[in-house]
Amino acid sequence: MKLQWDHKKYTTGFAHIDQQHSELFNGINGLMLFLKQSTAGENQKNKEKILEMLQFLGEYAQKHFQDEEKVFEKHDHPMKETNKKEHQLFLEKYVHYQKKLQAKLDQERLTRGVLIQIHIFLQSWLVNHILKVDTALRDCAENATESTVEDVAVTGKGTFSRFLAFFKRNN
Ligand SMILES: [Fe+2]
Repeated sequence: MKLQWDHKKYTTGFAHIDQQHSELFNGINGLMLFLKQSTAGENQKNKEKILEMLQFLGEYAQKHFQDEEKVFEKHDHPMKETNKKEHQLFLEKYVHYQKKLQAKLDQERLTRGVLIQIHIFLQSWLVNHILKVDTALRDCAENATESTVEDVAVTGKGTFSRFLAFFKRNN
């Protein structure tokens, strides 16, 4: 299922954080776009591209976590440690998956099934985490100067566009 940005449901009240979450949705949707390709489980070059995108997504997530943790810290939010811990666990798991994928790619054994597992993990982790932890930031957004809930314009495009274009072209 494609991730769709629903502002009411997912907003943290901080525009830059929402924008980054929306970009992460795009990255995860890019993985799904790739998986829809008939050659997703066969073409080695395309598989190299998907690993490149997953690497990029991991780096983007890491940068996003740092930005978000700063907001939790700044407002001394009661969930700041929970948030940090969840990010850390996610990144550990992600690195583990990346190593597994790279090893499979090197042995030419990377299958669509493995990528589907990653997709499910990414999608469910991110949605759960935003709903359970990140949206708790709304408590302090009302008094924040960074942004207001109203001025959030989440268009969610740009960061992953070169990958999305590649997968569309090869679809
Ligand atoms: Fe978070």
